[in-house]
Amino acid sequence: MNTSIQQRVTTEFVRRFNTLPQLMVRAPGRVNLIGEHTDYNDGFVLPMAIDRAMWIALQPRSDDSVRAYSLDFDQTIEFGLSDFKKGKASWGEYLKGVAWALQQAGYALKGWEGVVAGDVPIAAGLSSSAAWELAAARAFAAVSGFEWNAAIMARTAQHAENEWVGVNCGIMDQMISAAGKAGHALLIDCRSLETQAVPLPPETSIVILDTATRRGLVDSAYNERRAQCEAAARFFGVKALRDVSLEQFKARADQLDEVIRRRARHIITENDRTLHAAEAMRRGDAIGLGRLMKASHFSLNDDFEVSSKELNTMVTCALQEDGCLGARMTGAGFGGCAVALVRSEDAYAFGLAVTASYQTLTGFVPNIYICAATNGAEVVASS
Ligand code: GLA
Repeated sequence: MNTSIQQRVTTEFVRRFNTLPQLMVRAPGRVNLIGEHTDYNDGFVLPMAIDRAMWIALQPRSDDSVRAYSLDFDQTIEFGLSDFKKGKASWGEYLKGVAWALQQAGYALKGWEGVVAGDVPIAAGLSSSAAWELAAARAFAAVSGFEWNAAIMARTAQHAENEWVGVNCGIMDQMISAAGKAGHALLIDCRSLETQAVPLPPETSIVILDTATRRGLVDSAYNERRAQCEAAARFFGVKALRDVSLEQFKARADQLDEVIRRRARHIITENDRTLHAAEAMRRGDAIGLGRLMKASHFSLNDDFEVSSKELNTMVTCALQEDGCLGARMTGAGFGGCAVALVRSEDAYAFGLAVTASYQTLTGFVPNIYICAATNGAEVVASS
Protein backbone atom coordinates (compact mmCIF):
# COMPACT_ATOMS: atom_id res chain seq x y z
CA MET A 1 0.00 0.00 0.00
CA ASN A 2 2.73 2.47 1.04
CA THR A 3 4.96 1.44 -1.80
CA SER A 4 2.25 2.08 -4.32
CA ILE A 5 1.64 5.60 -2.99
CA GLN A 6 5.37 6.24 -3.09
CA GLN A 7 5.32 5.04 -6.71
CA ARG A 8 2.29 7.13 -7.56
CA VAL A 9 3.80 10.38 -6.25
CA THR A 10 7.11 9.56 -7.96
CA THR A 11 5.45 8.85 -11.31
CA GLU A 12 3.40 12.04 -11.14
CA PHE A 13 6.49 14.02 -10.11
CA VAL A 14 8.45 12.71 -13.11
CA ARG A 15 5.53 13.50 -15.42
CA ARG A 16 5.41 17.10 -14.18
CA PHE A 17 9.09 17.93 -13.71
CA ASN A 18 10.89 15.51 -16.10
CA THR A 19 13.22 14.40 -13.34
CA LEU A 20 13.19 12.19 -10.26
CA PRO A 21 12.24 13.88 -6.94
CA GLN A 22 15.21 14.96 -4.85
CA LEU A 23 13.36 14.23 -1.65
CA MET A 24 10.57 11.96 -0.47
CA VAL A 25 8.92 12.39 2.92
CA ARG A 26 6.12 10.53 4.66
CA ALA A 27 4.18 11.10 7.88
CA PRO A 28 1.72 8.56 9.27
CA GLY A 29 -1.82 8.63 10.63
CA ARG A 30 -2.41 7.09 14.04
CA VAL A 31 -4.61 4.92 16.17
CA ASN A 32 -4.79 5.44 19.91
CA LEU A 33 -4.67 2.21 21.94
CA ILE A 34 -5.74 3.89 25.18
CA GLY A 35 -5.65 7.30 26.88
CA GLU A 36 -8.61 9.12 25.33
CA HIS A 37 -9.35 12.81 25.90
CA THR A 38 -6.46 12.87 28.36
CA ASP A 39 -4.04 14.86 26.17
CA TYR A 40 -5.65 18.26 26.80
CA ASN A 41 -5.65 17.43 30.51
CA ASP A 42 -1.82 17.20 30.46
CA GLY A 43 -2.21 13.43 30.91
CA PHE A 44 -0.99 10.23 29.26
CA VAL A 45 -1.81 8.69 25.88
CA LEU A 46 -0.67 5.47 24.20
CA PRO A 47 -1.08 5.77 20.41
CA MET A 48 0.82 4.10 17.59
CA ALA A 49 1.68 5.42 14.12
CA ILE A 50 -0.02 3.27 11.46
CA ASP A 51 1.05 2.05 8.04
CA ARG A 52 -1.14 4.63 6.32
CA ALA A 53 0.51 7.94 5.61
CA MET A 54 0.79 11.18 3.65
CA TRP A 55 3.64 11.24 1.14
CA ILE A 56 5.32 14.18 -0.58
CA ALA A 57 7.79 13.88 -3.49
CA LEU A 58 9.58 17.20 -3.83
CA GLN A 59 12.50 19.33 -4.93
CA PRO A 60 13.70 22.71 -3.67
CA ARG A 61 12.88 25.88 -5.61
CA SER A 62 15.24 28.77 -6.08
CA ASP A 63 12.55 31.32 -5.15
CA ASP A 64 10.39 31.45 -2.01
CA SER A 65 7.26 29.92 -3.44
CA VAL A 66 5.62 26.63 -2.52
CA ARG A 67 3.71 24.63 -5.12
CA ALA A 68 2.09 21.34 -4.28
CA TYR A 69 -0.12 19.19 -6.44
CA SER A 70 -2.47 16.79 -4.67
CA LEU A 71 -3.13 13.55 -6.50
CA ASP A 72 -6.07 12.84 -4.20
CA PHE A 73 -7.85 16.13 -4.94
CA ASP A 74 -6.40 16.81 -8.40
CA GLN A 75 -5.65 20.37 -7.30
CA THR A 76 -2.57 22.57 -7.03
CA ILE A 77 -1.89 25.02 -4.24
CA GLU A 78 0.67 27.76 -4.70
CA PHE A 79 1.79 30.58 -2.41
CA GLY A 80 4.80 32.78 -1.71
CA LEU A 81 6.43 32.34 1.69
CA SER A 82 6.82 36.07 2.23
CA ASP A 83 3.16 36.90 1.69
CA PHE A 84 0.22 34.52 2.08
CA LYS A 85 -3.22 34.66 3.59
CA LYS A 86 -5.86 32.30 4.87
CA GLY A 87 -8.09 30.86 2.18
CA LYS A 88 -11.23 28.75 2.18
CA ALA A 89 -11.01 25.49 4.14
CA SER A 90 -9.18 22.91 2.00
CA TRP A 91 -6.24 20.50 2.15
CA GLY A 92 -3.95 23.39 1.10
CA GLU A 93 -4.71 25.33 4.28
CA TYR A 94 -2.83 22.70 6.33
CA LEU A 95 0.26 23.37 4.25
CA LYS A 96 -0.07 27.15 4.61
CA GLY A 97 -0.82 26.77 8.31
CA VAL A 98 2.36 24.76 8.88
CA ALA A 99 4.42 27.32 6.94
CA TRP A 100 2.87 30.10 9.02
CA ALA A 101 3.45 28.30 12.35
CA LEU A 102 7.07 27.46 11.45
CA GLN A 103 7.72 31.09 10.55
CA GLN A 104 6.04 32.22 13.78
CA ALA A 105 8.45 29.92 15.62
CA GLY A 106 11.37 31.67 13.91
CA TYR A 107 12.35 29.20 11.18
CA ALA A 108 13.60 30.64 7.88
CA LEU A 109 11.80 28.66 5.19
CA LYS A 110 12.80 27.89 1.63
CA GLY A 111 10.45 27.20 -1.27
CA TRP A 112 9.75 23.80 -2.83
CA GLU A 113 7.53 22.10 -5.35
CA GLY A 114 6.13 18.62 -5.34
CA VAL A 115 3.38 16.05 -5.46
CA VAL A 116 1.30 14.92 -2.48
CA ALA A 117 -0.85 11.81 -1.89
CA GLY A 118 -1.95 9.68 1.02
CA ASP A 119 -3.94 6.70 2.16
CA VAL A 120 -5.04 7.83 5.62
CA PRO A 121 -8.84 7.85 5.34
CA ILE A 122 -10.08 11.43 5.70
CA ALA A 123 -12.39 12.36 8.61
CA ALA A 124 -12.33 8.79 9.95
CA GLY A 125 -10.59 9.71 13.20
CA LEU A 126 -7.19 8.38 12.08
CA SER A 127 -5.52 11.81 12.02
CA SER A 128 -5.13 12.46 8.33
CA SER A 129 -4.73 16.17 9.17
CA ALA A 130 -1.87 15.58 11.60
CA ALA A 131 -0.22 13.30 9.02
CA TRP A 132 -0.48 16.01 6.39
CA GLU A 133 0.84 18.70 8.79
CA LEU A 134 3.83 16.62 9.83
CA ALA A 135 4.62 15.63 6.24
CA ALA A 136 4.60 19.35 5.36
CA ALA A 137 6.83 20.16 8.36
CA ARG A 138 9.23 17.34 7.36
CA ALA A 139 9.39 18.72 3.82
CA PHE A 140 10.13 22.26 5.05
CA ALA A 141 12.79 20.95 7.46
CA ALA A 142 14.52 18.96 4.71
CA VAL A 143 14.47 21.78 2.15
CA SER A 144 15.28 24.60 4.57
CA GLY A 145 18.00 22.64 6.34
CA PHE A 146 16.86 22.81 9.96
CA GLU A 147 17.08 20.03 12.48
CA TRP A 148 14.10 17.73 13.07
CA ASN A 149 12.98 17.78 16.69
CA ALA A 150 9.81 15.68 16.94
CA ALA A 151 8.33 17.41 20.01
CA ILE A 152 8.97 20.94 18.68
CA MET A 153 7.57 20.02 15.27
CA ALA A 154 4.49 18.44 16.87
CA ARG A 155 3.84 21.60 18.92
CA THR A 156 4.30 23.75 15.82
CA ALA A 157 1.89 21.60 13.78
CA GLN A 158 -0.64 21.73 16.64
CA HIS A 159 -0.30 25.52 16.63
CA ALA A 160 -1.08 25.49 12.90
CA GLU A 161 -4.16 23.33 13.45
CA ASN A 162 -5.41 25.42 16.40
CA GLU A 163 -4.76 28.88 15.00
CA TRP A 164 -4.71 28.60 11.21
CA VAL A 165 -7.14 25.75 10.52
CA GLY A 166 -9.18 26.62 13.62
CA VAL A 167 -9.54 23.16 15.19
CA ASN A 168 -9.03 23.01 18.94
CA CYS A 169 -7.15 19.68 19.18
CA GLY A 170 -4.70 18.45 21.81
CA ILE A 171 -1.11 17.33 21.14
CA MET A 172 -1.55 13.55 20.73
CA ASP A 173 -2.08 13.27 16.98
CA GLN A 174 0.79 15.55 15.96
CA MET A 175 3.13 14.00 18.53
CA ILE A 176 2.62 10.39 17.41
CA SER A 177 2.83 11.35 13.72
CA ALA A 178 6.13 13.12 14.48
CA ALA A 179 7.68 10.58 16.83
CA GLY A 180 6.16 7.11 16.19
CA LYS A 181 8.39 4.05 16.34
CA ALA A 182 8.00 0.92 14.18
CA GLY A 183 6.66 -2.10 16.09
CA HIS A 184 5.81 0.04 19.11
CA ALA A 185 3.19 2.28 20.64
CA LEU A 186 4.38 5.46 22.37
CA LEU A 187 3.52 6.32 25.92
CA ILE A 188 3.40 10.12 25.72
CA ASP A 189 3.38 12.40 28.73
CA CYS A 190 1.36 15.25 27.24
CA ARG A 191 2.75 17.75 29.76
CA SER A 192 6.48 17.20 29.25
CA LEU A 193 6.17 15.55 25.82
CA GLU A 194 8.54 12.83 27.00
CA THR A 195 7.91 9.57 25.16
CA GLN A 196 8.61 5.94 25.92
CA ALA A 197 8.34 3.33 23.17
CA VAL A 198 6.48 0.23 24.35
CA PRO A 199 6.44 -2.93 22.20
CA LEU A 200 3.17 -4.33 20.89
CA PRO A 201 2.36 -7.62 22.63
CA PRO A 202 3.76 -10.63 20.74
CA GLU A 203 1.43 -12.52 18.41
CA THR A 204 -1.28 -9.90 18.54
CA SER A 205 -2.57 -7.50 15.89
CA ILE A 206 -4.11 -4.08 16.17
CA VAL A 207 -7.29 -3.94 14.08
CA ILE A 208 -9.04 -0.66 13.26
CA LEU A 209 -12.81 -0.95 12.87
CA ASP A 210 -14.28 2.02 11.05
CA THR A 211 -18.01 2.30 11.81
CA ALA A 212 -18.56 4.23 8.54
CA THR A 213 -20.47 6.84 10.58
CA ARG A 214 -19.42 10.47 10.95
CA ARG A 215 -21.14 12.94 13.23
CA GLY A 216 -21.58 16.66 12.91
CA LEU A 217 -21.07 18.83 16.00
CA VAL A 218 -17.97 16.86 17.02
CA ASP A 219 -16.05 20.12 17.43
CA SER A 220 -18.61 21.72 19.72
CA ALA A 221 -18.98 18.55 21.83
CA TYR A 222 -15.17 18.33 22.03
CA ASN A 223 -14.88 21.94 23.18
CA GLU A 224 -17.63 21.37 25.72
CA ARG A 225 -15.72 18.38 27.18
CA ARG A 226 -12.57 20.48 27.38
CA ALA A 227 -14.43 23.23 29.24
CA GLN A 228 -15.91 20.68 31.67
CA CYS A 229 -12.46 19.25 32.39
CA GLU A 230 -11.11 22.76 32.97
CA ALA A 231 -13.98 23.46 35.38
CA ALA A 232 -13.10 20.29 37.31
CA ALA A 233 -9.41 21.29 37.45
CA ARG A 234 -10.41 24.71 38.80
CA PHE A 235 -12.53 23.02 41.46
CA PHE A 236 -9.51 21.01 42.63
CA GLY A 237 -7.27 24.08 42.40
CA VAL A 238 -4.81 22.50 39.96
CA LYS A 239 -3.47 23.37 36.53
CA ALA A 240 -4.97 20.29 34.87
CA LEU A 241 -6.78 17.07 35.88
CA ARG A 242 -3.49 15.25 35.45
CA ASP A 243 -2.63 16.67 38.88
CA VAL A 244 -5.56 15.02 40.69
CA SER A 245 -5.08 11.50 42.10
CA LEU A 246 -7.91 9.01 42.42
CA GLU A 247 -7.82 9.40 46.22
CA GLN A 248 -8.06 13.21 46.00
CA PHE A 249 -10.92 12.84 43.56
CA LYS A 250 -12.84 10.40 45.76
CA ALA A 251 -12.40 12.59 48.83
CA ARG A 252 -14.23 15.54 47.24
CA ALA A 253 -16.21 14.02 44.37
CA ASP A 254 -19.59 14.41 46.09
CA GLN A 255 -19.17 18.20 46.12
CA LEU A 256 -18.90 18.30 42.32
CA ASP A 257 -21.74 18.88 39.88
CA GLU A 258 -22.89 15.45 38.67
CA VAL A 259 -21.83 15.85 35.01
CA ILE A 260 -18.48 17.45 35.85
CA ARG A 261 -17.86 14.64 38.34
CA ARG A 262 -18.32 11.96 35.67
CA ARG A 263 -16.11 13.84 33.18
CA ALA A 264 -13.35 14.17 35.78
CA ARG A 265 -13.69 10.53 36.83
CA HIS A 266 -13.12 9.42 33.25
CA ILE A 267 -9.95 11.49 32.89
CA ILE A 268 -8.48 10.49 36.24
CA THR A 269 -9.18 6.76 35.82
CA GLU A 270 -8.11 6.86 32.14
CA ASN A 271 -4.70 8.29 33.04
CA ASP A 272 -4.30 5.43 35.49
CA ARG A 273 -5.42 2.83 32.93
CA THR A 274 -2.99 4.23 30.36
CA LEU A 275 0.00 3.91 32.67
CA HIS A 276 -1.08 0.36 33.56
CA ALA A 277 -1.57 -0.46 29.87
CA ALA A 278 2.03 0.58 29.12
CA GLU A 279 3.20 -1.68 31.98
CA ALA A 280 1.11 -4.57 30.65
CA MET A 281 2.67 -4.11 27.21
CA ARG A 282 6.17 -4.12 28.64
CA ARG A 283 5.35 -7.45 30.31
CA GLY A 284 3.91 -8.77 27.02
CA ASP A 285 0.58 -9.13 28.84
CA ALA A 286 -1.94 -8.89 26.00
CA ILE A 287 -4.83 -10.02 28.19
CA GLY A 288 -4.14 -7.26 30.71
CA LEU A 289 -3.95 -4.67 27.92
CA GLY A 290 -7.22 -5.92 26.44
CA ARG A 291 -8.99 -5.68 29.79
CA LEU A 292 -7.89 -2.06 30.20
CA MET A 293 -9.08 -1.22 26.68
CA LYS A 294 -12.55 -2.56 27.52
CA ALA A 295 -12.66 -0.55 30.74
CA SER A 296 -11.63 2.56 28.79
CA HIS A 297 -14.54 2.08 26.40
CA PHE A 298 -17.11 1.83 29.17
CA SER A 299 -15.71 4.92 30.87
CA LEU A 300 -15.83 6.87 27.59
CA ASN A 301 -19.41 5.75 27.03
CA ASP A 302 -20.82 6.13 30.55
CA ASP A 303 -18.78 8.93 32.12
CA PHE A 304 -17.39 10.97 29.25
CA GLU A 305 -20.35 10.31 26.91
CA VAL A 306 -18.45 10.50 23.64
CA SER A 307 -19.33 7.08 22.23
CA SER A 308 -22.24 6.42 19.87
CA LYS A 309 -24.73 3.65 19.15
CA GLU A 310 -22.62 2.42 16.22
CA LEU A 311 -19.35 2.54 18.17
CA ASN A 312 -20.97 0.54 20.97
CA THR A 313 -22.34 -1.98 18.48
CA MET A 314 -18.92 -2.30 16.87
CA VAL A 315 -17.23 -2.90 20.22
CA THR A 316 -19.86 -5.51 21.15
CA CYS A 317 -19.42 -7.26 17.77
CA ALA A 318 -15.64 -7.27 18.25
CA LEU A 319 -15.67 -8.56 21.83
CA GLN A 320 -17.86 -11.54 20.99
CA GLU A 321 -15.31 -12.95 18.50
CA ASP A 322 -12.70 -15.56 19.34
CA GLY A 323 -9.24 -14.13 19.62
CA CYS A 324 -10.40 -10.59 20.51
CA LEU A 325 -8.68 -9.55 23.73
CA GLY A 326 -10.06 -6.03 23.97
CA ALA A 327 -11.85 -3.33 21.98
CA ARG A 328 -12.82 0.29 22.48
CA MET A 329 -13.77 3.43 20.61
CA THR A 330 -10.71 5.46 19.64
CA GLY A 331 -10.11 9.13 18.86
CA ALA A 332 -12.50 11.96 19.65
CA GLY A 333 -15.59 9.72 19.39
CA PHE A 334 -19.20 10.33 18.27
CA GLY A 335 -18.54 8.09 15.25
CA GLY A 336 -15.36 7.16 13.41
CA CYS A 337 -13.34 4.16 14.52
CA ALA A 338 -13.00 1.53 17.21
CA VAL A 339 -9.74 -0.33 17.81
CA ALA A 340 -9.38 -3.99 18.76
CA LEU A 341 -6.52 -6.09 20.08
CA VAL A 342 -6.74 -9.50 18.40
CA ARG A 343 -4.61 -12.63 18.35
CA SER A 344 -2.73 -12.44 15.04
CA GLU A 345 -3.74 -15.93 13.95
CA ASP A 346 -7.41 -14.91 14.27
CA ALA A 347 -7.15 -11.39 12.84
CA TYR A 348 -8.33 -12.11 9.30
CA ALA A 349 -11.32 -14.24 10.35
CA PHE A 350 -12.07 -11.63 13.03
CA GLY A 351 -12.28 -8.90 10.37
CA LEU A 352 -14.70 -10.94 8.25
CA ALA A 353 -16.91 -11.88 11.19
CA VAL A 354 -17.11 -8.33 12.58
CA THR A 355 -17.87 -6.94 9.12
CA ALA A 356 -20.81 -9.34 8.80
CA SER A 357 -22.27 -8.91 12.29
CA TYR A 358 -21.87 -5.10 12.36
CA GLN A 359 -23.48 -4.77 8.93
CA THR A 360 -26.40 -6.97 9.95
CA LEU A 361 -27.03 -4.94 13.09
CA THR A 362 -26.56 -1.42 11.71
CA GLY A 363 -26.88 -1.55 7.92
CA PHE A 364 -23.49 0.22 7.58
CA VAL A 365 -20.60 -1.40 5.73
CA PRO A 366 -17.53 -1.01 7.95
CA ASN A 367 -13.91 -0.66 6.88
CA ILE A 368 -11.45 -2.92 8.65
CA TYR A 369 -7.70 -2.30 8.71
CA ILE A 370 -5.24 -4.73 10.26
CA CYS A 371 -2.34 -2.39 10.91
CA ALA A 372 1.35 -2.36 11.65
CA ALA A 373 3.09 0.23 13.83
CA THR A 374 5.44 2.41 11.79
CA ASN A 375 7.97 5.17 12.31
CA GLY A 376 6.85 8.77 12.58
CA ALA A 377 7.56 11.49 10.00
CA GLU A 378 10.72 10.75 8.04
CA VAL A 379 12.68 11.43 4.91
CA VAL A 380 12.32 8.18 3.01
CA ALA A 381 14.75 8.65 0.16
CA SER A 382 16.67 11.41 -1.49
CA SER A 383 18.75 11.36 -4.64
C1 GLA B 1 -8.84 14.13 18.79
C2 GLA B 1 -7.85 15.24 19.13
C3 GLA B 1 -6.75 14.72 20.07
C4 GLA B 1 -7.36 14.03 21.30
C5 GLA B 1 -8.43 13.01 20.86
C6 GLA B 1 -9.17 12.41 22.02
O1 GLA B 1 -8.20 13.13 18.06
O2 GLA B 1 -7.23 15.71 17.95
O3 GLA B 1 -5.91 15.77 20.47
O4 GLA B 1 -7.88 14.95 22.19
O5 GLA B 1 -9.39 13.60 20.00
O6 GLA B 1 -8.32 11.62 22.79
